Amino acid sequence: MVDARAVVRELQEMREEGHLSDALLRYTVKTLHRADDRFDWVGVYLLDDEEAVLWLHNYVGTPTDHSKIPVGKGVCGTAVAHGANQNVPDVSEFAGYLSCNPAVRSELVVLIRAGSRIYGQFDIDSHLPAAFGDQDEVAVQMIADKLAEQVARERR
Ligand code: SME
Repeated sequence: MVDARAVVRELQEMREEGHLSDALLRYTVKTLHRADDRFDWVGVYLLDDEEAVLWLHNYVGTPTDHSKIPVGKGVCGTAVAHGANQNVPDVSEFAGYLSCNPAVRSELVVLIRAGSRIYGQFDIDSHLPAAFGDQDEVAVQMIADKLAEQVARERR
């Protein structure tokens, strides 16, 4: 399990040192991937509001064809369309699931948001079925909320 408080502290220190969201997002993806054996693929998508598309910013894991996902498509696009995190215990049961690797069994998407404004999301895939619990979602959300502070600041 990732130590979300430690990651949030590190992100705050990076902000104080002047690092921008690009560095923070890359650091977080690597840290999440390293922190937990269940996290086989970790990536971050950023939302292009005007085009209603998610763009893959950076990831660790096997290469994926899904560098661009329309809002409403797949687990990722559904999270944005519904304004809600998605914890999918069995991806084969998810209508419209976009597969990037047949080994993936479950997926967790946590939004990077400030209130109703969605900036993007963390997408985590596991080769284990039903790999993610509420505690994982809470931990990743704490980290996503910290990142949202920096992204919001840069967009103002
Ligand atoms: N499975 C995702 C697509 C992204 S890949 O997992 C990297 C989806 O259904 O939206």
